Amino acid sequence: MEKRIHTRRSRSLPYRNYLLQFKWTLLVFCFFVSIVLLNKAKLNSFAFSSIEHNDNVEFSFIDVIYPIDVLNPKDLNKSISYYFARKEELKLIDDAKAIDRKEKVVLPLTNNKFPSKSYLILEFTHVFQRPRFCSHSKEQIFGKTCPYKNCDYTCDEKHEEDADVLLMHKRDLDFKQLTEMTRNSEQIWLLWHDEPNENTAAINKYKFNWTITYRTSAEASLAAYGITVVKENPWPMEKLSSWIDKEFKKRYNQAVWFVSNCKPKKRLAKFQSLRQHYPIVAFGKCISSTQSYSLNANVHSSIQCGRESNCEHVYLSTSKFYLAFESQSCTDYITEKFWRTLSVGAIPIVSGPEQKSFARVAPPNSFVHVDDYASDKELSVALNLIATNRTLYGKYHAWRRYYDAYYQAKDVDPYRFCELCYRLNTNKQRIWYENINDWFLEKC
Ligand SMILES: *[C@@H]1O[C@H](CO)[C@@H](O)[C@H](O)[C@H]1NC(C)=O
Ligand SMILES: *[C@@H]1O[C@H](CO)[C@@H](O)[C@H](O)[C@H]1NC(C)=O
Ligand SMILES: *[C@@H]1O[C@H](CO)[C@@H](O)[C@H](O)[C@H]1NC(C)=O
Repeated sequence: MEKRIHTRRSRSLPYRNYLLQFKWTLLVFCFFVSIVLLNKAKLNSFAFSSIEHNDNVEFSFIDVIYPIDVLNPKDLNKSISYYFARKEELKLIDDAKAIDRKEKVVLPLTNNKFPSKSYLILEFTHVFQRPRFCSHSKEQIFGKTCPYKNCDYTCDEKHEEDADVLLMHKRDLDFKQLTEMTRNSEQIWLLWHDEPNENTAAINKYKFNWTITYRTSAEASLAAYGITVVKENPWPMEKLSSWIDKEFKKRYNQAVWFVSNCKPKKRLAKFQSLRQHYPIVAFGKCISSTQSYSLNANVHSSIQCGRESNCEHVYLSTSKFYLAFESQSCTDYITEKFWRTLSVGAIPIVSGPEQKSFARVAPPNSFVHVDDYASDKELSVALNLIATNRTLYGKYHAWRRYYDAYYQAKDVDPYRFCELCYRLNTNKQRIWYENINDWFLEKC
């Protein structure tokens, strides 16, 4: 007995000594484990963990600006301000990079101008040669649900000096006029520009303060070309299932593409190579008539399939996929092609900006990004699986139960201008772009 105890002690003692010897290592280890756990908890509170939905689809909300995760009680904040808050976190990171590259200057605002009781925005230029919001009501411009009600909009040039913001649409801006203006350093020169990849270094010298554009690090970027919002009333599961069943049957064509701008060569090349592996019906000036016939399309098509035509409607409502290839790869340049595809019930196949840009604003699990596949062959295999397997197909539409996608100006503009009003109300920074050209050209 004694011997046994002895043996036990003699065994455990060195073991304890051994542990003691490493107590600092252990302490440090525990410290790091707790840091990692704490960070994970923090990350979850902002970055939205993946959760299992009733319909067995796992949505990820990591680094997402919108939509919100409707099944997460922590995240059930449907106010637009919540979108703004989520964007702010990502903007901070992007701004730090822009400051580093000397594209942007961000300083603390030290005077008392902000916050103020109300803000006046002047439509300083036309927008594509026409007055844009001059005859709109405040509610039409900023939206019914905007939590900020103290922004006013005018087209009356007598406010050129006292307006808080001069809204300048790049395409309509007379730069010579800017050179001649005496600048009030409290007034915000806001550049509105939704086009990608225009190399205009000459505009750097005007040192615009803010931008309203598609880049999520812009001062106003939300809903630039579209937005995902939470449905007032989510569909019951049965409604989603029957919607998916119906569309799965009705959409007997594979992929369709309407292309009007033939200049961007990269996406044309991608189309040419992908169609060697996957049937795509394509229409447009850059598509020869033989190509407009798909390898196995059930419907024979002519090259004429114009915008808003019945032919276009037929293809959009009978194809499983739409090639929402962006013309440029510029950061966050995601256009109405993408949002329209979602809203007509098809799955967008996307290329151009990185996957990360799409994931920030798209409905969860709603698109196929070409960069996710090593080859056209692999991509075509994946597309074929989605198109033929009802369960898999359904996973790309599960978001429709909770969310809607919008792309028309009347639906998205109020979000854009509400964000502008939000920024005016919460701004604590003096900002200007030192090199707005490079900033716009990122990843173009
Ligand atoms: C919703 O989010 C906004 C912005 O973060 C916040 O100000 C507001 O208090 C939140 N509301 C609720 C009910 O949590
Ligand atoms: C269809 O897809 C689902 C989900 O990915 C998978 O579990 C199932 O095995 C697939 N069915 C067939 C017949 O391939
Ligand atoms: C706007 O930009 C100008 C030009 O650099 C700067 O002097 C001014 O302080 C900025 N104003 C605000 C409110 O950010």
